Amino acid sequence: MIEFILNKEHIKTEIPSGSILLDFIRQKKHLTGTKIGCREGDCGACTVLSGSLNTEGKVDYKAITSCLTPIASVHGKHVVTIEGLNLTDGLTTVQNAIKENNATQCGFCTPGFVVSLTGYALNKNISITGIKDSISGNICRCTGYKSIEKATEDITSILVEKNNHSTKWLIERKFVPEYFTEIPGKLFDIKAKMKINSKGTIVGGGTDLYVTRANKFQELDVDLISENDNINKIFINKNTCIIGAGATVSDILNFTRLHDYFPELENYFKLISSKQIRNMATVGGNLVNASPIADLAIFFLALNSKININDKQGGNRIIFLKDFFKGYKSIDINDGEIIQEITFELPEDDQYFNFEKVSKRTHLDIASVNSAMNISIKKKLINDIYLSAGGVSPIPLFLKNTCSFLKGKVLSSENIQKAHCVLKEEITPISDVRGSKGYKRLLIRQLYYGHFIKLFPDIINIYDIK
Ligand SMILES: Cc1cc2nc3c(=O)[nH]c(=O)nc-3n(C[C@H](O)[C@H](O)[C@H](O)COP(=O)(O)OP(=O)(O)OC[C@H]3O[C@@H](n4cnc5c(N)ncnc54)[C@H](O)[C@@H]3O)c2cc1C
Ligand code: FES
Ligand code: FES
Repeated sequence: MIEFILNKEHIKTEIPSGSILLDFIRQKKHLTGTKIGCREGDCGACTVLSGSLNTEGKVDYKAITSCLTPIASVHGKHVVTIEGLNLTDGLTTVQNAIKENNATQCGFCTPGFVVSLTGYALNKNISITGIKDSISGNICRCTGYKSIEKATEDITSILVEKNNHSTKWLIERKFVPEYFTEIPGKLFDIKAKMKINSKGTIVGGGTDLYVTRANKFQELDVDLISENDNINKIFINKNTCIIGAGATVSDILNFTRLHDYFPELENYFKLISSKQIRNMATVGGNLVNASPIADLAIFFLALNSKININDKQGGNRIIFLKDFFKGYKSIDINDGEIIQEITFELPEDDQYFNFEKVSKRTHLDIASVNSAMNISIKKKLINDIYLSAGGVSPIPLFLKNTCSFLKGKVLSSENIQKAHCVLKEEITPISDVRGSKGYKRLLIRQLYYGHFIKLFPDIINIYDIK
């Protein structure tokens, strides 16, 4: 039995846990304000909010694309569609800002924008860059975006009046209807008896599986690992960071302690998909999908991460991530095995980290080429270095030979140029829709030098690079 609150309605359903939330909302509940655009997570027309009860008894809302959401992943949650935001007396503040700024034309995308922006209003920290990012997964074919941007500015000017606002404050300012105050109690009641079947294909966020195989899962039960508390935690133990495989990109971003070690984390991860997809996409899914350009794989390879793999018999093995990728979409995992967590040593004071990604569009696009570097310098020597590169080989590539060449050498323009010759031999890019092999060779060259120029501008001079 799957149980959740859809707007105001308490839902109890026996449909297969792999069924798509979007279809349930539109076909079973006839809430057709949630639109179907791409069914691939790209357009945001199907955006709904998913609210989970937190340990303080409050509800944390996040925007998700319902076209990629297995219904079981909203078990015990509050799902809010555009209909669930309507007030009895006129427009909400977000709807009004859209109207006043002429930020809607045909209106097809508008419910998705309103839901995403309301999800942002329900957030704690408000900023103009944050609110724009909240609609990074919503596409409009008509407005040209300027009018939508103006609407976000109007909304922000109200929200900044009281940062860290309460639900009551949002109700008074007409962001959400009054029934939102009743939701924590209702979710609490469901939580008390929460139990869900875990069988079938393992699904993290579904943002890879459901893009190509959603129909297959319509009639099936799935094993939703991200709902398992044991697998989605993030914590630091001494100098080791442990990230559960079910943690999402947003969970990593929200883990504030990591920002002390990676001050640019937000800039790196903003390049990964969109707000909605980041709210769903898990670490385990990114690694197992084994795309040669998987951003998290590239990020974690450069941290010399290890992954902890469990089997059904209670067995466990730990391997380096760099040994996990065997060939194109071929990985070191057996039937019944599951990635439990990824671990890495936190950077020390003499360590420097950088991540770069080039894609056709800055946001909501997968990489043509991506790369990360983690380097430690002692007495001007490269003490240790881990370099990764995506889009230049059949797998997310750890640049083993380039790293071996550089280790122990003086950090100089001359040495990194020599190492670039090694790198060129290590990569095997192919031409595809993301670019020709020659273009990818050029991109990885730029990203490789870019790491050094960005991290060591006083030592590595761009004009010395031939
Ligand atoms: C619109 C859009 C934009 C995207 N943009 C990017 C991008 O910019 N960068 C990027 O890297 N990716 C991107 N992706 C791809 C995708 O979001 C990521 O790869 C994501 O991390 C996959 O995680 P998931 O939890 O959704 O995977 P799922 O689809 O749930 O699962 C993927 C595979 O992993 C298996 N699996 C999941 N977890 C485990 C586990 N713990 N143990 C064993 N097997 C497991 C599943 O069985 C499945 O085979 C994008 C996807 C979409 C739809
Ligand atoms: S329908 Fe386009 S993101 Fe879901
Ligand atoms: S108003 Fe037509 S798609 Fe946005």
